[in-house]
Amino acid sequence: MKKQLLSAACLCFLMAACGNKTEETATSSETQTPAMAKADQEVMPVTSQAPAGSGKALFERSCAMCHRDMGMGTGLLARRVDVAKLEDRSDLNADYIIQAARIGIGNMPVITRGEVSDEELQAIADYLTSE
Ligand code: HEC
Repeated sequence: MKKQLLSAACLCFLMAACGNKTEETATSSETQTPAMAKADQEVMPVTSQAPAGSGKALFERSCAMCHRDMGMGTGLLARRVDVAKLEDRSDLNADYIIQAARIGIGNMPVITRGEVSDEELQAIADYLTSE
């Protein structure tokens, strides 16, 4: 009886030791992965949501650095159009915006499909022509 208890305790100790060991290796090898996995999870829904509803977010990601207040696009467009900020324009149509992005216009560089997919560009064009 006593012996049995002892071996049970031994077993417990062994299991605990084993458990600890795997836990240790797991945590040390996972110091990066949980964070990265979490980041993946956070990134995934954003990319799959983007074409549906967030033309504005996509514009902010890919166009705003040039097409908001201090941007080069705004600066250069101010020379030839009355309303320089794309978001304030009411005379743009989606095809024109898409062509400008894919072919490049004047000093604006071509926006590739790697940077902005067709769906994303459509969402941006919809956003810019929606107001
Ligand atoms: C690197 C800076 C830069 C980025 C990024 C950029 N643009 Fe431009 N864009 C410009 C510049 C500069 C012009 C003015 C071209 C010219 O007339 O010389 C311009 C012009 C345009 C025009 C033409 C407007 C008109 O009245 O003719 C459209 C449309 C446009 N951009 C859309 C976009 C969209 C949509 C995006 C994001 C997908 C984008 N641009 C990203 C710099 C940029």
